[in-house]
Amino acid sequence: MYNDNPTLNFNDKTIDEKKQGDVFFKEQIAKKDQELTKKFYIESYGCQMNFSDSEIVASILAEQGFSSTRNLEESDLILINTCSIREKAEDTVRKRLRIFDKVKAQRPGTLVGVLGCMAERLKTKFLEEEKLVDMVVGPDAYRDLPKLVAGAEEGNKGVNVFLSREETYADISPMRLGTNGVSAFISIMRGCDNMCSFCVVPFTRGRERSRDAFSIVAEATELFEKGYREVTLLGQNVDSYKWENPETNQPVSFAHLLEMVAKVHPDLRIRFSTSHPKDMTDDVLHTMAAYENICNYIHLPVQSGNTRVLDLMNRTYTREWYMERIEAIRRIIPDCAVSSDIIAGFCTETEEEHQDTLSIMSFSDYSMSYMFYYSERPGTLAARKYEDDISLGVKKKRLQEIIRLQQQISFEHNQRDIGKRFKVLIEGDSKRSDQDFCGRNSQNKMIVFPKQEGLLPGQYTWVEVFEATSATLKGKIVH
Ligand code: 5AD
Ligand code: SF4
Repeated sequence: MYNDNPTLNFNDKTIDEKKQGDVFFKEQIAKKDQELTKKFYIESYGCQMNFSDSEIVASILAEQGFSSTRNLEESDLILINTCSIREKAEDTVRKRLRIFDKVKAQRPGTLVGVLGCMAERLKTKFLEEEKLVDMVVGPDAYRDLPKLVAGAEEGNKGVNVFLSREETYADISPMRLGTNGVSAFISIMRGCDNMCSFCVVPFTRGRERSRDAFSIVAEATELFEKGYREVTLLGQNVDSYKWENPETNQPVSFAHLLEMVAKVHPDLRIRFSTSHPKDMTDDVLHTMAAYENICNYIHLPVQSGNTRVLDLMNRTYTREWYMERIEAIRRIIPDCAVSSDIIAGFCTETEEEHQDTLSIMSFSDYSMSYMFYYSERPGTLAARKYEDDISLGVKKKRLQEIIRLQQQISFEHNQRDIGKRFKVLIEGDSKRSDQDFCGRNSQNKMIVFPKQEGLLPGQYTWVEVFEATSATLKGKIVH
């Protein structure tokens, strides 16, 4: 089929030689294609949703003939998917843009695009502040990226930060980036309607909308068929997932959706993030308990343990409500691990109120937490209504106390796992040694254990834990 090319004629060769020639020729063509196609490089910051969005962006660009590269220096298009959640996240992005400027100087014609929350927050301001940025694209405008790139190639800088009420990218099959081939994210909804007073997300990601449930199941099925064994359903507030089947007018809740995805295959593990204490229903907990493949792990951010502060944060639950939710988890799924997000030093927080956060951490017995000190974000309710009056020193001191306590709780949590046996999904080699595998148990704890002949990433094995630190468990395979 290729030998009509005058430069290569395989006709007189043996079949083996011909095969080798074919391979050589195909490689040459692939190489030529690679040289001809434009390459994009994408870097992601922030939440899992951003990483998932980058996979949608990659897929949109691949459709247009772009190929992806991990090498910044050889890219024609550098994209940075940004996070605005705290000031520090934005500072990191600005630093990276300085580095991209240098690459651009060495390779004139290279385009730089800013995607995600910072793009949405700063809009055209970005182009004024960062002169060398060529396009600014908000989270709902990724379909427009090829057009914006084409415009930028002509020298026209472009901005699309239109926020949609409908866009869910339901029809786009994400191109998996940096994947271990075992676990993948599936975005089930976009935006957030909650308006927590500290949070910039409702402004950068727009109104909440849920994705077609069948497209979610189809994506999970496709992933399973490709060998993936774990999916994490992503949304800012998964418990408020709500979609209506247009054919039957039947509503699909998050509990229904979980069940639909769990039924894809018993060997496909289901995780989800993030749950909101005000919306997490017993229905969801019962569904989790009913399906072995829905993991016993809930990320249930508390933010603060004090009712007055929670009220200022507009979290719409009280300390007692949160504690009752923890009790419901224990009642319905006794071996469920719970993790949290915690903010230290929110506006007007007193020392006693900070102590309430520490005590709710002990009560909740979090397996782990993401912990931050409050960072005022322009435009949020808190920035408009409250004074950011806790000094940086006090914020840092309270955060340190929170971190220290969490380390202790995690350590004790993990110590209790010693002697227990867990079903582990093997993810790959451990970070420290290629003689060891690492994988997670249902409770989302990473376990490191010596490899065994015949076992591969993507397979399940039983592991008994014999050692634990606050971060990792060590174990050995048992039959
Ligand atoms: N300052 C500090 N932490 C914040 N988070 C969100 N906004 C802020 C802010 N302004 C934290 C919350 C949220 C997590 C994703 O980030 O704990 O759950
Ligand atoms: Fe932000 Fe609250 Fe929405 Fe989470 S639930 S994204 S913290 S507004």
